[in-house]
Amino acid sequence: MSKTPTVIVTRRWPSVVEDELREMCADVRLNEEDRPMSREQLQDALRGADCVLPTVTDPMDAETLGASGIRCKFLGNFGVGFNHIDLDAAKKAGISVTNTPEVLTDCTADIAMILMLTTARRIGEGERHVRSNSWKGWRPTHLLGTRVTGKTLGLVGFGRIACAVARRAHFGFGMKILFHDPFEPPQKAVREVGATSYPTLEQMIPDADFLSLHCPGGEKTRHLMNRERIALMKPGSFLINTARGDVIDNRALIEALKKGVIAGAGLDVFEGEPNLDPGFLELENAVLLPHLGSASRETRIAMGRRVLKNLRAWLDGAELPDRVA
Ligand code: DGY
Repeated sequence: MSKTPTVIVTRRWPSVVEDELREMCADVRLNEEDRPMSREQLQDALRGADCVLPTVTDPMDAETLGASGIRCKFLGNFGVGFNHIDLDAAKKAGISVTNTPEVLTDCTADIAMILMLTTARRIGEGERHVRSNSWKGWRPTHLLGTRVTGKTLGLVGFGRIACAVARRAHFGFGMKILFHDPFEPPQKAVREVGATSYPTLEQMIPDADFLSLHCPGGEKTRHLMNRERIALMKPGSFLINTARGDVIDNRALIEALKKGVIAGAGLDVFEGEPNLDPGFLELENAVLLPHLGSASRETRIAMGRRVLKNLRAWLDGAELPDRVA
């Protein structure tokens, strides 16, 4: 590596962290116009820099990372999810990869709660009703939703974000917590909310009034919520997704929402986002958000600083705090 490492950042970051990065490294190339980079531009970045700091929308797959003449040795991902990075291809190219865990847990859990509340209580419909001047006044049967307090929440995955959702739901809304996770969950977190573990998803799904997805994206979980599993959901229940869009089979979900198989869905992520299936736009019983899970000023700054912490460690030849490859 040259003495002055070249660092390329693929999208705009909060300016305070961009400034901190510039103080840390003399040769930093920012994406001033915040235009998404094409595969070719990403490959050029990998060829032209020692460190590339991508984010969750940059396809760092085998094709991108398989480019010839790659100089990059450090990928510091701005984001906790890394299903857009082919870790084997990165290893093959001799690139270390880090992510940004922990700092976005609370804000993402907040968005899962927001989606539960907004879908169950028909907040989007209500807002549209008022804004379109259609509201004729209070009446006992107007826009009745579903009570959240005291209901049962099924968590698909019981990692950091799911545990934070469980605490909010249990202590804030008196909800009963169920989960399914193929990996051994943290026992302290299980005990804290009195959560019940299910050996299979198929056993848990019919018991939940709200089903919230907290598993990683990628091939292993692609369309985990398919037509068959959606059909197992309780009539009147809600599906919440703050994980990755491809965990749900869109067509199956749209059909289930149209037919009233389930009562509603709260979605912060979409397969192929930002181009979502137009079928979603016609559904009154879906709340649709533009991937806002970690979108608070505090969290995005903390995410940027977490990337810098990993970059610092890499520059110093120290152990990487959040190494994923
Ligand atoms: C992530 O970090 O993986 C989120 O999807 C964006 O905050």
